[in-house]
Amino acid sequence: MKKLTIIVVCLMAFLPLRAQKWEKIGDRPQMGWSTWNKFAGNINEEVIRTMADAMVESGLSEVGYQYINIDDCWHGKRDADGFIQPDAKKFPAGMKALADYVHSKGLKLGIYSDCGTATCAGMPGSLGHEYQDALQYARWGVDYLKEDWCNTQDVNAVGAYRLMSEALRAAGRPIFLSMCEWGGNKPWRWARDIGHSWRIGPDIWCNFDSTRVHPGFTDIGVMQCIRLNENLRTYAGPGHWNDPDMLEVGNGMTVNEDRAHFTMWCMMASPLILGNDIRNMSQATKDIIMNREMIDIDQDEMGVQGLHYNNDQGLEFWFKPLRNGDWAMTILNATKEPINYELNWQHFNLTDTEVSKQSTNFDTKVYKVRNLWSHKDEGKTTTKDKTWRKLTVPARDVVSYRLIAQP
Ligand code: GLA
Repeated sequence: MKKLTIIVVCLMAFLPLRAQKWEKIGDRPQMGWSTWNKFAGNINEEVIRTMADAMVESGLSEVGYQYINIDDCWHGKRDADGFIQPDAKKFPAGMKALADYVHSKGLKLGIYSDCGTATCAGMPGSLGHEYQDALQYARWGVDYLKEDWCNTQDVNAVGAYRLMSEALRAAGRPIFLSMCEWGGNKPWRWARDIGHSWRIGPDIWCNFDSTRVHPGFTDIGVMQCIRLNENLRTYAGPGHWNDPDMLEVGNGMTVNEDRAHFTMWCMMASPLILGNDIRNMSQATKDIIMNREMIDIDQDEMGVQGLHYNNDQGLEFWFKPLRNGDWAMTILNATKEPINYELNWQHFNLTDTEVSKQSTNFDTKVYKVRNLWSHKDEGKTTTKDKTWRKLTVPARDVVSYRLIAQP
């Protein structure tokens, strides 16, 4: 009996260490839109409402985009009891009314805070107010919290995010926790049971392949995000995703660069948080962000982050195992010149030893080849050791296939 009591007490002691985060949300990488990349601090309730309208009217919600996320600069002051209030000029009707509106459209509302004393834009942070802030968000009907890392001085990252995770749990409303710690404390090593996604690096900017240095911080391009993320695939999976930052599709890169950017985020099972003005989009932008077949690669139920298998003749070859033995295969040309390539499937007999244990077996298996950007079937793979097709990968672009396993 004594032994049993000891065992039960020991088990109970460990219980709070496990599963403190809200579960059964974030089983697929989150999809939505955020204010930050396009609007920075120039936001108000009208912007949010019209984005929610556009999310539905454009058809974005139908292909899976769900969250309307308010980033930095929505804050007013704390009230006499310490509860945070929105800026009354920007959000005169208040957050509850805004959440109701977003919900009435079948969408979900996201909000933003910071583990430190102030957000990156100098708004009130959550330090010392975690339970109160979580309660306030829950009362408003918020569904998603992005928690930033500015002004944290000597705050312990594991403790800070764990605290917010527990506060969200205690507040009683399932809220997705998007951790934005930029990778300095390697959150992929410890955040699996704390948040649903974690940023793996600095902020993206609308550029394909270069960094932009500011005093005290640096923004990185699409290729720099990919380089940081490609080594972290073993840490991602359903409910806990690596986040290489929000999308810049439609914000000024070329169509080729935008297509490569979106494809690679899908190959890496990344969160798909749009950062453009979705009220006003070119057809080219719509064709990219609403490509259902590509979104399906991102959202695949296995939740495996793609593998950068090898490089050949200036091209990168990426593989992502999918449900039912399918694979996504992307050939990325990150250079500024188009590259011709003779594709022989026998050069890609590989096993994903790190995560899925799935093998391509091109020497014995035949796949139907579906081009994910032309939306055309391109025949079948061949088990013969010879060129299957001569192709050209345009500069800063991709050729991307779904390889459909044949019975
Ligand atoms: C940080 C984050 C960005 C954005 C800004 C807001 O830089 O990494 O994604 O939220 O703060 O100030």
